[in-house]
Amino acid sequence: MSFLPGGMGHTTGAFVPGVADSQAFPFHIWKRLIARHLSKGNLALSGYANHGGLSQLREAIAGYLKISRSVNCEPAQIIITSGTHQSVDLCARLLADVGDTAIVENPCHWAFPTVFAASGLEVAGGNVNDYGLDLENSYVPPRTKIVVVTPSHHYPTGVVMPLSRRLELLQSARAHNLWVIEDDYDSEFRYDGAPLPSLQGLDNDGRVIYIGTFSKAMFAGVRMGFLVVPSHLSKAFSRASTKLFRPGALHLQAALADFIYEGHFSQHIRKMRGEYSSRQDLLRFSLEKSLGDIVRLSSARAGLHVFAQFSADVNYQSVINESKREGIFLGTPCFVKNIPALENRCFVLGFGEYRLRKLRPVCNL
Ligand SMILES: Cc1ncc(COP(=O)(O)O)c(C=O)c1O
Repeated sequence: MSFLPGGMGHTTGAFVPGVADSQAFPFHIWKRLIARHLSKGNLALSGYANHGGLSQLREAIAGYLKISRSVNCEPAQIIITSGTHQSVDLCARLLADVGDTAIVENPCHWAFPTVFAASGLEVAGGNVNDYGLDLENSYVPPRTKIVVVTPSHHYPTGVVMPLSRRLELLQSARAHNLWVIEDDYDSEFRYDGAPLPSLQGLDNDGRVIYIGTFSKAMFAGVRMGFLVVPSHLSKAFSRASTKLFRPGALHLQAALADFIYEGHFSQHIRKMRGEYSSRQDLLRFSLEKSLGDIVRLSSARAGLHVFAQFSADVNYQSVINESKREGIFLGTPCFVKNIPALENRCFVLGFGEYRLRKLRPVCNL
């Protein structure tokens, strides 16, 4: 299958989407916690990780998710992974057969079609409107097994899925007997009001697999994420993760458990929520001031990017090339099938990595 990959191959710089500000991360604390667990006195943590990961970390994550995301789970349902790609890969291998189909949102994060295609799955694009993925009005091919959704903050259009659409989506997934992968990657960063509860917490059917990552709340290179699987799948997922990936890095898992238990994780999120909120306001203000009506911005004040949609075609390649010459790398969405109203008209503008004093000149303020 072929799809139209977005992105720009850059992982750093002004407007690169979805990158957290690692300069603001408390590395001094992180280093201290790693040193605590990486020593001759703690050789138990120098071996392989079995059973889905270190139990202290799985407990810490379960506790955090219950309180902050209304996720209903026991630690045994949590499988530690090396991030979203590996989480999706495990789902593709365990929940579908080669030749089955996975529905992804169109447009979507490039990782989903890439990983599914690598596992031999067909990929179909589901329709996204102002309420998020509209599965009920999307074509569901006969051998579809999986649907992936980003309800907290659709990547890239920034739509937040309201409760009514969440319930409708679960109903539609039940009617088609699909597994639902809920990628909750941006949920920590909602700037006006409390986030909506997760799909997983609304699921009475045991069909939602919840995926989380520490790339945004900590830093991209930490490469730790997790799955929350329904309890009847936990043994199969933990066995598969152990056998396929032979994971390790238990000292990092122990450090992360302490980082959460000692309150550093919540404290860092609270600090960054304020920071990112100001950066997003600045970017929005600047875009509206300089471009006015010719650009429509995603409305939700959330996440680490703003989605900018122009009212007419822009000379895409020339804008991208011109910006590159200025050292600015503009992100573009990944489409699974063409959407004429969006293609050649939209950019994904990340603001996570740049501090206000650096962002101001780039925004011409
Ligand atoms: C929709 C979405 N999910 C997840 C991630 C995080 O992926 P990872 O855990 O591989 O860093 C991103 C990163 O930009 C993303 O855009």
